[in-house]
Amino acid sequence: MDDHRSDNVQNGKLSAGKNISCWYEPGLDTRLFPELLSDLETEVVIVGGGLAGLTTAYCMVCSGKKVIVIEDGYIGSGETGRTTAQIVTALDNRYYEMEEFFGKENNALIAESHKEAINFIEEVVKKENINCDFERLSGYLFLHPSDKEENLYKELNTLQQCNINAMMLDNTPGIPIEKKCIHYPDQAQFHPLKYILGLSKAIEKKGGLIFINTHASEINHTGIVSSKGFKISAKHVVVATNAPVNNKYATMLKQWAHRSYVIAALIKKDSIPRALWWDTGDKTIHTSTPYHYVRLQSHNDEHDLLICGGEDHIVGINEGKSEEERYNDLIKWTQERFPIAEVVSKWSGEVLVPMDSIAFIGKNVFDKENVYIITGDAGIGMTYCTIGGLLVTDLINGVKNRWEEIYKPSRFILKASEPFFRMLKGDLVAVLKKWFYRDTTELSSIKEDEGKVVILDGQKCGAYRNPSGKLYLVSAECTHLKCMVQWNKDEKSWDCPCHGSRFTYSGKVINGPANEDLPSFSENSPE
Ligand SMILES: Cc1cc2nc3c(=O)[nH]c(=O)nc-3n(C[C@H](O)[C@H](O)[C@H](O)COP(=O)(O)OP(=O)(O)OC[C@H]3O[C@@H](n4cnc5c(N)ncnc54)[C@H](O)[C@@H]3O)c2cc1C
Ligand code: FES
Repeated sequence: MDDHRSDNVQNGKLSAGKNISCWYEPGLDTRLFPELLSDLETEVVIVGGGLAGLTTAYCMVCSGKKVIVIEDGYIGSGETGRTTAQIVTALDNRYYEMEEFFGKENNALIAESHKEAINFIEEVVKKENINCDFERLSGYLFLHPSDKEENLYKELNTLQQCNINAMMLDNTPGIPIEKKCIHYPDQAQFHPLKYILGLSKAIEKKGGLIFINTHASEINHTGIVSSKGFKISAKHVVVATNAPVNNKYATMLKQWAHRSYVIAALIKKDSIPRALWWDTGDKTIHTSTPYHYVRLQSHNDEHDLLICGGEDHIVGINEGKSEEERYNDLIKWTQERFPIAEVVSKWSGEVLVPMDSIAFIGKNVFDKENVYIITGDAGIGMTYCTIGGLLVTDLINGVKNRWEEIYKPSRFILKASEPFFRMLKGDLVAVLKKWFYRDTTELSSIKEDEGKVVILDGQKCGAYRNPSGKLYLVSAECTHLKCMVQWNKDEKSWDCPCHGSRFTYSGKVINGPANEDLPSFSENSPE
């Protein structure tokens, strides 16, 4: 695997960014599948080899359908390889807030869908004998200093109405602060890459086909065409690309991208209980209300890994804080609460937050009846991707599903529309910023390992010089809706502040909604 790590930053095939998460252990290979090199026909084609695509493929083959999955990197190379893989009914948004949008009955259905998703994962792990460190454990939600105790009681009350097993405790187990917390006894966690590799094996065993290194450059109701020109004709098309690459406006204007940061540190085995922890989030930052999320993962005979995430911000709004400061704050926060030793990995990833806080799953808006999308993970994609697989399979098989209406991608809940208008305003600001962007940087002044948007012959270009001095020049205009990309110093990528598309430094698209690379000018570089 190591030889492939080195060129990952340029081609993004192993993972969407320079930093590699702790899940990429030696010996774990996500490349064990062929590339699509001929035209094929099938009943269902699924675009995206992350948790959503592979769960859907698994459910579909189990229901007897002929399925093909295509993935443009390796298996899990999107956000599934960058997750922290807590599997929860304790959502990032509070149920008492969601009740305002969805009402009591639908709130209970949302809770039910997450419970069933956890049960489903547990059953699949057993049935397919997937060795992925799945375990059931408790989760503890404790107050952020900016939040009030009465909100914990409100949440507990709503959880009980939604039939989620939860209770109040006077202290938070594992954390040396005497503060009340909600205890959720039935949460879970696993190793995400081992789980999806297990799913992939099961899909193949049941007759499904998986192709990697295969980019779907055209997607419509008849199937897909790969960037090398091979066609897969299909009766049903499922786009599970995290941000849907087949839907430019209808969905991406109803959700926005957050960047979340993670550290994994050594911690002595058995020094704290095995559990999940979350705080309720910083209410003083209204744009993203960042919260911390913590879990353990077995590592070696002496140590476990304590994995802690947080420091979220909306992509493009970094509130004047650098990535380095965010990692440092995350380490400090963790050290103040847990007896950690050396930090062994750091990475970041993108989470898609829908305006009303729940996923968009079902028939693609303004499209033919046989095209489906799974998107809007809201930071709890382990369950949403699983719900997506279950629901889309029912829709394709014509089976009535009581979650269909709640997760419909066409919904627009007026009460939850404030973020939608905030986002439109943000898009407008981004367009104005692009128009008025002025820069006089000479290419020669760009240092090694530095990236910047510069103006060359009146055109905005992303310029990056690698550590050996080679200059890469790409168009700085995002191929989704033409906002100007920004340099991500931490992951060495060009990120779009409008809807979160990302590109490697050489312009290859690694996150939707954009589906085309940034044009590259490196060969004509004036240097
Ligand atoms: C830092 C972080 C922590 C998180 N922690 C948690 C957690 O603890 N619990 C939880 O429930 N959720 C968590 N999440 C969210 C969760 O990880 C994601 O929601 C989930 O992994 C998304 O899976 P997916 O299959 O939808 O997308 P992805 O895993 O991104 O898969 C989409 C795939 O589509 C491929 N693709 C894109 N375009 C094309 C194309 N044109 N042709 C072919 N293939 C294409 C991509 O290469 C990619 O592999 C976290 C996310 C982040 C970033
Ligand atoms: S992601 Fe929409 S314009 Fe870039």
